[in-house]
Amino acid sequence: MRLLVLGGTHFLGRHVATAALARGHDVATFTRGISGPPPEGARALHGDRDGPQALSAALDGWAPELVVDTSCQTRAAARNAAAVLTGVQGSGVRGYAFVSSLNAYRNWPPGPVGPEDGEPTWTTDDDEYGPNKAASERILGDVLGDRFLTARAGLIIGPHDPIHRLGWWLDRIARGGRVVVPDSLEQPIAVVDARDLAGWLVEAAERGLSGGVNATGPTGMTTLGGLLDLCREVTGSDAEWVPLSQEVLLAAGVEPWVHLPLWLPDEIARTGWDVDTTRARELGLPSRPLRESVADTWAWQQANERPPLPAGGHRSEPGLPPELEQQLLAPR
Ligand SMILES: NC(=O)c1ccc[n+]([C@@H]2O[C@H](COP(=O)([O-])OP(=O)(O)OC[C@H]3O[C@@H](n4cnc5c(N)ncnc54)[C@H](OP(=O)(O)O)[C@@H]3O)[C@@H](O)[C@H]2O)c1
Repeated sequence: MRLLVLGGTHFLGRHVATAALARGHDVATFTRGISGPPPEGARALHGDRDGPQALSAALDGWAPELVVDTSCQTRAAARNAAAVLTGVQGSGVRGYAFVSSLNAYRNWPPGPVGPEDGEPTWTTDDDEYGPNKAASERILGDVLGDRFLTARAGLIIGPHDPIHRLGWWLDRIARGGRVVVPDSLEQPIAVVDARDLAGWLVEAAERGLSGGVNATGPTGMTTLGGLLDLCREVTGSDAEWVPLSQEVLLAAGVEPWVHLPLWLPDEIARTGWDVDTTRARELGLPSRPLRESVADTWAWQQANERPPLPAGGHRSEPGLPPELEQQLLAPR
């Protein structure tokens, strides 16, 4: 079928395009052309989805039957897609899988997040990530009805990840020696491999699945310590953990999630990783062994230059600045 990826040249979208090609679809990606080309075999359509005419002009009569939307960050982007993909060029759309975030939920973080139907999403006008995702879900869901599925993704990992959270830990641990880690290594963590999510999104569009899905790994699949141990094994490192308490880390100015990626303060971590994924499991979202995700990310990272952080965002570079690390490792 003709499958349009809104996005498709970066990380999750790239895996979506790859999965769709492998399943025999005629695939087009729609991007601004900043992040490079899509996987070979996909047709590259260009334009800025925040502009009202761009998608229609780029499609130029090519009428998608399936859509996987990985790139929506604004209400305008959702409105423009809704207008085109329910108009003449979208009359054949049978399934639309949208990538949202757990941030669409008003109460997350810190959560916990229960089954999808009982969890309120943001309804405010704020031009922020969570409210924008929630509003975009409504804009598209209202016009697509039971052809619309929204996957509220948790933390996505895997090869081609430009955000470099797991990537930073892999690099740092591979260098070996004494490595600062939070002493709360038992914090639970749940992740979804981009390849698992991507393949499932394509199938979800094919099957015309609808409604909200908490799209992440099963609660309790690992812990922060379990993930870091895997990083040490996979990189063959001799790294020695130097566990420091939350009080010491925060007092030194360590920013949770940013300086020590994937680490959250205890009061958020307690419930933040507690997400009900019953529906995702029922609908077949796979969860490959974490070791495979970590090993494949490391293999990709070693063989490729690190991609730039996504354009237009306001992300901080992940990782512990070297001077802060030295300060934390100094004898006290
Ligand atoms: N990473 C996580 O842990 C995580 C967690 C929860 C949810 N999410 C969501 O998951 C999705 C995954 O994103 P991804 O980066 O992996 O997807 P992707 O589709 O691989 O990359 C984003 C794509 O969007 C395109 N793009 C950006 N702005 C655009 C615009 N204004 N008009 C047209 N195209 C545009 C980019 O290409 P150009 O730059 O060339 O335009 C790029 O191809 C996002 O929606 C994110 O909010 C991510």
